[in-house]
Amino acid sequence: MQKKRHGRSERLAEKWKHNYKKHRELNHRIKEVGHDILSSPNFRSTKQHIQHGNITVNAHCLSVARYSLALSRKLGVVCSEDELIRGALLHDYFLYDWHEKDEINPHRLHGFYHPGRALGNASKEYELTPIEMEIIRKHMWPLTPVPPMCREAWIVTMADKWCSLMETLHIHKGHGATVVESEKPKQEKKEN
Ligand SMILES: [Fe+2]
Ligand SMILES: [Fe+2]
Repeated sequence: MQKKRHGRSERLAEKWKHNYKKHRELNHRIKEVGHDILSSPNFRSTKQHIQHGNITVNAHCLSVARYSLALSRKLGVVCSEDELIRGALLHDYFLYDWHEKDEINPHRLHGFYHPGRALGNASKEYELTPIEMEIIRKHMWPLTPVPPMCREAWIVTMADKWCSLMETLHIHKGHGATVVESEKPKQEKKEN
């Protein structure tokens, strides 16, 4: 009985080691291809905004890039990995907090409009390829009437839906948004 339990924990440890190695390898590839995006001030600013649950937009985009890459390799889809990764990193590059509802920016139709906003922002900063544009433009399908027209966009669309579900159900957990120093509530000074 003890031997059996020991065998099970060994298998679990092996599985954990395998997943950890895979995760590291995928992250390494993403950094290799998207280092300019990952280190840019605008992309880093997405750590200040929550996407779903307690996951930031930044963590969500990294997660979608990782799942897209893993899915394409698992299914053996012949596609451009570089464009897949860069498109996934920029797919939610809308750069605002969609939970904040004020009169100027109600973000009521965020689901429909943010791919266009993301594409506009990304085009200003990066020379996007037609595949990267298609990924960003169509990732919210079926909210976009025309479906994705390339494999890379289909993969990111599927990975995005899976990650969004996991985040909304709090199965994927994060640390919440980064608070900007200037936005911290000021502490009242105690008078002696
Ligand atoms: Fe999106
Ligand atoms: Fe997304």
